[in-house]
Amino acid sequence: MTRVLVLQGPNLNLLGTREPGIYGRETLDEIHQGIAARAAELGVDVAFFQSNHEGALIDRLHERDFDAAIVNAAGLTHTSVALRDALLAVQRPFWEVHLSDPSTREAFRHVNFLHDVAQASIVGQGARGYHVALDAIAERLGGAA
Ligand code: DQA
Repeated sequence: MTRVLVLQGPNLNLLGTREPGIYGRETLDEIHQGIAARAAELGVDVAFFQSNHEGALIDRLHERDFDAAIVNAAGLTHTSVALRDALLAVQRPFWEVHLSDPSTREAFRHVNFLHDVAQASIVGQGARGYHVALDAIAERLGGAA
């Protein structure tokens, strides 16, 4: 069964109350429940990891216990060479997701260290973006359904 890691970066643990006008009112747990339900339908195995610490996200990637990843690196998207290097080092395809569309926001969010090495970037679709990424992974790597 295809194993998917959903990697969530800094401040995403505060979804639900964090700038709801931009990120919506759904909590991270609720978003993860929706992803888990979709994964069950597709027949893929899914694991979740959120951290506010760059090194913890990198250490999680180094476990290499997944076939593909869905990555919302949050603010680290715009700053982290180290996270980009880790994603390349572990040699697993990943799909980048952002709830908002950073390209329509402040100029510093237009810098993106992950976009060119991601299989695809799904932005501005809210939590639905994770489902789009999961569907793409199931199509590419296979699910049971
Ligand atoms: C975000 C967009 C980033 O610019 C921001 O720093 C986040 C969330 C998103 O999902 O829209 O923390 O990744």
